[in-house]
Amino acid sequence: MKILIVDDEKIQRDMLKGFLEKKGYEVSCAADGARALSLFNDIPFSMVLTDHKMPGMTGDELLAEMQRINPLVRSIMITAHGTVDMAVQVMKAGADDFMEKPVDLMVLLEKIMLLEQAAAISREAEELKAGMDTKDLPITIIGNSEPMREVLSLAGRMAPTDYTAMIRGETGTGKELIARLIHLLSPRSDKAFVEVNCAAIPENLFESELFGHEKGAFTGALTRRRGRFELAHGGTLFLDEVGELPLNLQAKLLKALQEKRITRVGSETDRQVDVRVVAATNRDLKQMVHDGGFREDLYFRLNVLEMELPPLRRRRTDIPLLVDHFLEKFVTRPVSFDPEAMNILVKYGFPGNVRELEHMIQRIVTLCRSSIVRENDLPPEIRFHNAAETGTLAEKMDALEKELILTALSRHEWVQTRAAEELGISERVLRYKIKKHRLKN
Ligand SMILES: Nc1ncnc2c1ncn2[C@@H]1O[C@H](COP(=O)(O)OP(=O)(O)OP(=O)(O)O)[C@@H](O)[C@H]1O
Ligand SMILES: [Mg+2]
Repeated sequence: MKILIVDDEKIQRDMLKGFLEKKGYEVSCAADGARALSLFNDIPFSMVLTDHKMPGMTGDELLAEMQRINPLVRSIMITAHGTVDMAVQVMKAGADDFMEKPVDLMVLLEKIMLLEQAAAISREAEELKAGMDTKDLPITIIGNSEPMREVLSLAGRMAPTDYTAMIRGETGTGKELIARLIHLLSPRSDKAFVEVNCAAIPENLFESELFGHEKGAFTGALTRRRGRFELAHGGTLFLDEVGELPLNLQAKLLKALQEKRITRVGSETDRQVDVRVVAATNRDLKQMVHDGGFREDLYFRLNVLEMELPPLRRRRTDIPLLVDHFLEKFVTRPVSFDPEAMNILVKYGFPGNVRELEHMIQRIVTLCRSSIVRENDLPPEIRFHNAAETGTLAEKMDALEKELILTALSRHEWVQTRAAEELGISERVLRYKIKKHRLKN
């Protein structure tokens, strides 16, 4: 297990490091909060021992920031002797335990071992109660984090109504999955769930796709065909990527939603349809309305109930649960992640959210032969990802430099001459920077 020790006193750091290394732990040290965070971003520590009072960032502030980066991290706060009510304060700061100076090394070891065990047990417990009880449903939704519980509870409350629901969220956050859940929990569940991908239907076919057509309505309409509205009759119509709809088609959609009636292309008569509409988008529709790209009346018609799906980086505690779920999905042999590899995943930003995680797991288990996935089995863009979303200009430039170098190196299979050439720097400078950023293949 990798442990990080943070203390402004060198003697204290050296003493703890020496002791813990003898006990078989891998230990790194930092003299203040800023250096600790920079190490924490780069190395998958499972535990932090931090001093409370330090110049610059306090132990509390440091722990809060680390929790944000990796909520799985365990921590012990080490405080000066005789600080009153420290236990309470430490709990508030989110530390798992605390100790007073001078540190009794055997007690410290015991606490570390207890926390290691507790981490393993709580992982198992979490897995048992992961997500909503979807076992009677043909879909599985994983998520035990606070934001996901809210999403699931909201879906449960939206389901019984006929109101139009709008699901917003970044790409890959599970919008379609939640739309299906709403349908399955609704009284319409025994009828169809019909999807319309608004971005994928060619403009000239849109009306015929949605409303159907009569035989001979246009060249190529050889037979009569029912549209998606009719197919969804009695059930749910899922309008995916609704923000991609061109303005003239928005008008046609609005009319159908308002009147609850559709006319097949080439038909004289209209017919009544009973559909519940759930829409999804990763665009900021309100902004689009403001900019004239989306009709305001349609926006209000679709946005009766609304739900925001949080990106994966705002619910990092779900990552281990999702990993286990996808491992089960993709492999029959038992495979698991070692704690350090898992820490790296939990700290990663996942711009592609759950879908990115899913594809990543699939790729990893295809390539990894051992039953345990370790740090080196992870793709480099994740291993060397800098979790610092915030930071000073210098820190961000540093992170960017690291990323650019890494990308160039991977592109040229770590042939330094070529990477240096691409980056427009000398090989000597590249070697220096590789060392500085501790990059390795
Ligand atoms: N909470 C979850 N539990 C299990 N699997 C999930 C979860 N969320 C998403 N997934 C899986 O991740 C993938 C992407 O989900 P989905 O297609 O619903 O995302 P989306 O928000 O519609 O993405 P896009 O905006 O790109 O269309 C799917 O394979 C889905 O099954
Ligand atoms: Mg989708």
